Amino acid sequence: MHYILAKNIDWLEPLVEEIQNSFEVKPDRVTGLPLLKASNTLDLRDKYIAFSTCALINTTSFLEDSISKQAMSIVESILSKVSEDETINLHVFSMTHKYGVLETGRAEILKDKIHKNLRKNKIRIIRKGFERSLSFAQVMLLDDRSAILSIQDTEEVSHYNSLYSPYVGGFNNVEDDKKAPSRAFKKIVEAQEILGKNISNGETLIDLGACPGGWTYIARKNGAKVIAIDRSELREDLMQDEQVQFLQTDAFKYRPEEILDWAVSDIISTPDRVIELMTTWVLGKLCRNFIFTIKFQGKEGYTVLEEFKKLANECDFKIILKQLNANKNEVTIMGSERE
Ligand SMILES: C[S@@+](CC[C@H](N)C(=O)[O-])C[C@H]1O[C@@H](n2cnc3c(N)ncnc32)[C@H](O)[C@@H]1O
Repeated sequence: MHYILAKNIDWLEPLVEEIQNSFEVKPDRVTGLPLLKASNTLDLRDKYIAFSTCALINTTSFLEDSISKQAMSIVESILSKVSEDETINLHVFSMTHKYGVLETGRAEILKDKIHKNLRKNKIRIIRKGFERSLSFAQVMLLDDRSAILSIQDTEEVSHYNSLYSPYVGGFNNVEDDKKAPSRAFKKIVEAQEILGKNISNGETLIDLGACPGGWTYIARKNGAKVIAIDRSELREDLMQDEQVQFLQTDAFKYRPEEILDWAVSDIISTPDRVIELMTTWVLGKLCRNFIFTIKFQGKEGYTVLEEFKKLANECDFKIILKQLNANKNEVTIMGSERE
């Protein structure tokens, strides 16, 4: 069984529709939770599900038992996929009706026991962050105390790139930054983490639809040089920044003189205009990395996502298409050139 998580219960309906559109199967709901189940026969390798924040692929289920026994059975399964001396990513969480994703309580105890058992078998887990080059074990506890395990080896991790999340259960909350000109800064912070790549010192970035400057602010904080395009000016300090070149022009018409490290867009526009940006910047190879939000009006028009998935398969970029925690009625398409 695959378990597919939505950001919260409000996004379950669009998620069900998307899975039906993309794969022509009807997933099962898990009562009261932002969670769907689909049969393992559904091939999710190299696929995209935009309205899912996180997925547990090809799972094994361990019914209620003592936590120690559950941990031992889970470790046995993990050992069948990873080799001695490997370091792996491990996420253990409960999916609860009341609080959503929780890492405390039974999940914390289970994680501790899994960790100790793995160590006895010379498998280490990384303590902080997420490493895309390592195998990945996810354990989700449900209200009936069953534990669901998904274990991907290093090769599988790269093929389910757009479906898993570096955040436990797909959930995160970017800390507030009172100095940021807008709350939209959270989207570009989260997108970099999901992409596993940071905007770096000395890089060049174009911020399409930049006003009031949340994304430019983060790019500058990371040390990048910014070309900021909008019809309206950015916040005063960013306008004064010598490393920010502000152009008051139409973002859709601008073409750079050379290939840029990053093209990012948070332009308020219809999805077909984001397809235009994909064609220009990504298929046209005018940037090495990109982050574009796709905004919707009301609860309709989500079927356009299938066009983005086709484009994603046509270009030489490793792409992630996902609803970020910081996205409202929008999803984000992002990617980096394949090495
Ligand atoms: C959601 S805001 C961007 C917020 C920004 N990312 C931040 O962090 O502060 C979208 C911006 O897109 C701009 N915009 C819309 N259409 C545009 C176009 N054709 N060319 C340039 N900017 C455009 C709007 O003026 C608006 O400032």
